[in-house]
Amino acid sequence: MSKTTVAAPANIAFVKYWGARDLEKALPMNPSISMTLDHCVTRCTVEILDGGHDEVWLSEPDGGFGSPEPEFTRRIVEQLDRVREWAGRDEPFRVATRNTFPSAAGLASSASGFAALTMAAAGALGRQDASAKDLSQLARRSGSGSASRSVMGGYVEWPDPGAAGGIDDEPSYALQLADAGHWDLRDIIAVVEIGPKIVSSREGHRLAHTSPYYTRRLELLPERLQKVRRAIEERDLDLLGPVLEEESTDLHIIAMSSQPPIFYWSPGTVAVLRAVRELRQEGLSAYATLDAGANVHVICDPDSEDEVAERLEDLPAVGFVIRDGVGEGPEYETTHLF
Ligand code: DP6
Repeated sequence: MSKTTVAAPANIAFVKYWGARDLEKALPMNPSISMTLDHCVTRCTVEILDGGHDEVWLSEPDGGFGSPEPEFTRRIVEQLDRVREWAGRDEPFRVATRNTFPSAAGLASSASGFAALTMAAAGALGRQDASAKDLSQLARRSGSGSASRSVMGGYVEWPDPGAAGGIDDEPSYALQLADAGHWDLRDIIAVVEIGPKIVSSREGHRLAHTSPYYTRRLELLPERLQKVRRAIEERDLDLLGPVLEEESTDLHIIAMSSQPPIFYWSPGTVAVLRAVRELRQEGLSAYATLDAGANVHVICDPDSEDEVAERLEDLPAVGFVIRDGVGEGPEYETTHLF
């Protein structure tokens, strides 16, 4: 049978999705804006089977493939069901997936993973021409809401469905604000911790409203969203940077003050945040943001990339540095994983 492979990138949120109106449907409490990355990619190959059940394979560190945890397989099969239902088909699939970066380390592996899976399954069912809107909506329904932003490249906004007057499933999908060519930003990722995060984003979304600071954050968001949209439009890193740092700090303040509290930071996180401040004092435009994990994404322009990366690599707390930047979005590929 023929195979379909998609490489879909992770994304880093400038304005964070944190807290859900409906966790099952991944309907957010607030709009979010992200930059789609280039090198941190999940590759997923899907093949339609003649009969039997879905088969799910996950790449292992030695390069081979193994059976994932039952919970992971369950989420994949549920997503395949959504794609089949959308396409009006019922064939089983063989699926294999591999990340180019450490999984579950706050590097948005589920966003890239579910974007790749959704697009590869849609493509295998002959729907490579599906609209970005349909794919974004389908990817979001995986439960990894940020996957809705990874089906397109460049700078992406996932608006709040509530703002449109309803919280129905239908209107919630991401839109591209600008393509990758509009603004060449880099994301230098300082990896201070590898391994699955202790508390899932899902749990963070569920608990967010228990923080006394959560309502305040929602009040502050409209102005931040405006600034981030304007910063992207005008390619203004010094307008974007302070807002993306505020957003990251807020997410973690809310996580730390949720009940029960969630602490994602490690000592290495603090060391990197200090180093980024020092770089700024030396005159460089570099700004730090974290998703739900300990690793730090440092956003800077191409001229600063080498200096930022070298400085972070020199920190004893940093295991390694990934140099990434804005990317064009997912692609169908002709080489397959099996
Ligand atoms: C902190 O529910 O999309 O990254 O399924 O783990 O990828 P995963 O998380 P999801 O929440 C993302 C939370 C965030 C902020 C963001 O990307 O907007």
